[in-house]
Amino acid sequence: MAGSHFEANRFFLKDSIRQQVDFSQTDQSRGLPPPPLQVPCPLDAVRVDLPDGRTALARLGRMAVGEAIARRESVRRFEAEPLTLEELAALLWATQGVRRVLSPISALRTVPSAGARHAFETYLAVSRVEGLPAGLYRYLPFDGQLAQLAIDPQIGRRAAAACLGQRFVALAAVTSFWTAVPARMEWRYDLAAHKVIALDAGHVCQNLYLACESLGLGTCAIAAYDQEACDRLLGVDGDEEFTLYLAPIGKR
Ligand SMILES: Cc1cc2nc3c(=O)[nH]c(=O)nc-3n(C[C@H](O)[C@H](O)[C@H](O)COP(=O)(O)O)c2cc1C
Repeated sequence: MAGSHFEANRFFLKDSIRQQVDFSQTDQSRGLPPPPLQVPCPLDAVRVDLPDGRTALARLGRMAVGEAIARRESVRRFEAEPLTLEELAALLWATQGVRRVLSPISALRTVPSAGARHAFETYLAVSRVEGLPAGLYRYLPFDGQLAQLAIDPQIGRRAAAACLGQRFVALAAVTSFWTAVPARMEWRYDLAAHKVIALDAGHVCQNLYLACESLGLGTCAIAAYDQEACDRLLGVDGDEEFTLYLAPIGKR
């Protein structure tokens, strides 16, 4: 009984699917172009230059990695103080920064990813970051910039509502939403793409936890949210791109 109820979802966690994929027929094997490494910036979006994230993390980081691991915890209470743009740049670099561009279709980042396909985009619901009007932004890791998608002084409250009313989300200085663009991974792995997308998300959020710890900030992973409400908030279509995971961030 239990077996039949859980079977499909347990199967998803296994790698049995790999035996069923004809890797000679993937989009990659058939010579089709992969989706772009970064969702293109809307032409009318204001772009905000970010400080160099790697330099920022090195400059602001207060502790060795061992101490950050030992101290890491989920934080759900945030101070009212804003984040600086330098702190935000450090967090973005830690979670999705580009380490090396290998070719026009492939790049390495600060987190690992199956086949280096990196199927995520990072959206920011900004309430209190110095120099940024409150609103919705998207990280452009290949440009070292943010795209300003909407000015919205109520973004924190709306983000909390989209997270099933988890009230601490409204108190965050900024909430990072990671969307999946599954086609980037499907191009290489076809039906074996989806489990590894979920695995990859964990690396991103763990780097956020450790970078926050090192900077005197706090965060909390969130996977309980209203799918349609979050997708609407971010302006993504819910099919080719959809919310996967998120984390509010603030001073502790
Ligand atoms: C995948 C995942 C989903 C989570 N979702 C939520 C959530 O929706 N709301 C919340 O308050 N905490 C959430 N958490 C945080 C956990 O409750 C927290 O990690 C756990 O209680 C252990 O505490 P610690 O992180 O301080 O060690 C989530 C954590 C993970 C890893």
